[in-house]
Amino acid sequence: MMQLYLATSNPGKLKEFKELLAEGQDEDNVEFLLPHDLPDVEETEETLQGNALLKASSCYNRLKLPSFADDSGLFVSALPGELGVKSARFGDKTLDDEGRMKLLLEKMKGIEDRSCYFACVLCFYLSKEEQFFFEGRLKGEVAHEIRKGGGFGYDGLFIPEEYKSEGIHLSELSDWKKKNSHRALAFSFARKFFQQNYWKRAETIL
Ligand code: IMP
Repeated sequence: MMQLYLATSNPGKLKEFKELLAEGQDEDNVEFLLPHDLPDVEETEETLQGNALLKASSCYNRLKLPSFADDSGLFVSALPGELGVKSARFGDKTLDDEGRMKLLLEKMKGIEDRSCYFACVLCFYLSKEEQFFFEGRLKGEVAHEIRKGGGFGYDGLFIPEEYKSEGIHLSELSDWKKKNSHRALAFSFARKFFQQNYWKRAETIL
């Protein structure tokens, strides 16, 4: 059975990945593993793809085993270039998730166009010759207030397009998020691709 390392130290992402991985595991023919000591990677690239590659390749280089990583962010139409690939570092470096949501709320004061989307890019670094990328997006809008609940990051300030009329925030939609988030979508693309093309014959390739 192929072994694949998940290169993330973000507790919010880790929790979501564990749930995603557990769901279809019977058909995967892959054992997902968590490395003990992940190298600290500075996210120096300007795209989600670039940073996902940095994270997955540094894990691969340390372990010499197939690894995958995610880079994600919130893209706000009215604030181009401010969040996106830099979402985790929005505002002052000392801010936590709540501080960043408060800052976003402040910056959105008086702005009518509140459209935004989450994007997630997964990089599967299988070997120096083979890397695969998958992307998922979730459209929505920036809410007018923060609502705490489940999730992490900007979930408390994000209303998915499907819940616009009810005004329900992603932080209140934990079960829905498991199936419909940008991360869940990207992972389902990857799972479909690998189940059909790779994992079933992984033992003979690697
Ligand atoms: P990075 O991928 O480590 O650069 O971090 C991405 C950042 O984007 C996170 O720290 C969050 O602030 C935000 N983010 C990414 N995915 C989500 C999500 O599913 N919910 C809320 N915020 C997210």
